[in-house]
Amino acid sequence: MNIQIYKSNQEAAVAAGEYINSYVRNNPKAVLGLATGSTPLPLYAKMVKACKNGLDYSGVTTFNLDEYVGLPIDQEQSYRAFMNKNLFSHLNIDINNTFVPDGMAQDLEAQCAEYEERIKAAGGIDIQVLGIGSNGHIGFNEPPAPFDSRTSVIDLTEQTISDNARFFESAADVPKRAISMGVGTILDARACILLSFGTGKAKALKGAIEESPDVMNPASALQNHPNITFYVDEASASYLTKQHKT
Ligand code: GLP
Repeated sequence: MNIQIYKSNQEAAVAAGEYINSYVRNNPKAVLGLATGSTPLPLYAKMVKACKNGLDYSGVTTFNLDEYVGLPIDQEQSYRAFMNKNLFSHLNIDINNTFVPDGMAQDLEAQCAEYEERIKAAGGIDIQVLGIGSNGHIGFNEPPAPFDSRTSVIDLTEQTISDNARFFESAADVPKRAISMGVGTILDARACILLSFGTGKAKALKGAIEESPDVMNPASALQNHPNITFYVDEASASYLTKQHKT
């Protein structure tokens, strides 16, 4: 595990942005796994800036981790709308090569299987970007999350619904289910980067990095990944022991 701690989320985003942008520079047909939430926004700003400065994203394919079930994509809280607004519309990427699970699909199980197949057909994910939920979830894999799970429909926990209520008018408007890549799907990526900012994530991050891997903290599965880098700000690193701070 590579743990990089920065003074601020902006500094962490610069480092993570350099990693992704240089990968795309060297691999114009890169396959990126992407995340939503407020955490990756400064990273996406670095990708947009690089593209505006000439980095070519036209050959890149992306797969998002997750999407709410039953939220039409023209609603701004849908993850498809979020990605279009915050990233895709600012890159010279082919929108047809950006994939987000379809939470409006008639047959959700078939949609999950199809998403797995699409990832496979693209040759797998080169770099998966991850945030972390305050309960340790990655994607929408709520605890207890088997480490070999595949893309599936997830019932969101009360904790996640209340965490994500800030994007909606009220907690009652937050969808109760989502489609998410499984923990096993995420672990198949050739590299993973997890961004964690703020004290609200400090406990979950400590569990992910310093406690024995446990399905009650889905992010702890990453300890078994051969190429995982954590980009963390000091606030999020506040519970880590000294060993991981140097
Ligand atoms: C949602 C997403 C996760 C994300 C989490 C944290 O639950 N499904 O992928 O990591 O939110 O969001 P934020 O970065 O806004 O704290």
